[in-house]
Amino acid sequence: MTTDPYGTLGVGYATRRRTDPRIAVLIDRALAGCASVVNVGAGTGSYEPPTTVLAVEPSETMLAQRAPGAAPAVRAKAEALPLVDDAVDAALAVLTVHHWTDPAAGLAELVRVARRQVVLTWDPARVQRFWLVADYLPEISEQEQGLACLDTVMVTLSELSGTVEVVPIPVPSDCVDGFLAAHWQRPHAYLDPAVRAAVSGLAALPDAVLERGLRRLADDLFDGRWHEHYADLQAIDELDVGYRLVVAGH
Ligand SMILES: C[S@@+](CC[C@H](N)C(=O)[O-])C[C@H]1O[C@@H](n2cnc3c(N)ncnc32)[C@H](O)[C@@H]1O
Repeated sequence: MTTDPYGTLGVGYATRRRTDPRIAVLIDRALAGCASVVNVGAGTGSYEPPTTVLAVEPSETMLAQRAPGAAPAVRAKAEALPLVDDAVDAALAVLTVHHWTDPAAGLAELVRVARRQVVLTWDPARVQRFWLVADYLPEISEQEQGLACLDTVMVTLSELSGTVEVVPIPVPSDCVDGFLAAHWQRPHAYLDPAVRAAVSGLAALPDAVLERGLRRLADDLFDGRWHEHYADLQAIDELDVGYRLVVAGH
């Protein structure tokens, strides 16, 4: 375990990326009836239910930010879970599969250790239409091509685990988990370097690309064009940007 992107990306993560209670309700619903859960790619512990028996996370930076009293955590990777076969009722993986070196191997590990798999990921075709990506930073989509997201998770889990259900996860307008599309109704947030630092898709963009896109966003906010163009977004309190919960097994 020599490279750790979250050694830098993860600094301050626990402040910027917190459990959003509305999203937690949907995750908890998918975990209903599961008395033991392993949280894989657990990070600082967001969305971990009280039934979590183990958190698996490779980054020391992330592990160090887990709250006192959080579930026991081990430094390990999805691709080699330190659990015996059928050890737990459910394996949870939230916004992490796209980071795995070998997503197919990691997903197979979720199936090996748990009877149910609950994976939060996204549909790139929909995220591509999110205004920040579509109008200002289309390079995000180019950069994310080839990452393991909805298709990979659905296809792999349905092959390994049988039935797969896909649950849309709308993003509340005041979402407290600062992932890429969390600020869809608060466009000024994307001008804040601290907000961007907590989002891998933004942090990984070349400075020149980021600067060009954000300058256009700042101009559109300044002269009112953004608010004029996206007036409809001001009237709603949640938006389906393409986040999806894949629930497999039984
Ligand atoms: C965006 S964070 C999500 C963390 C947490 N699940 C959450 O929702 O806040 C992605 C996490 O995946 C972890 N990760 C990266 N590669 C991994 C791997 N091969 N196996 C397990 N976790 C991995 C990172 O260290 C990071 O903590």
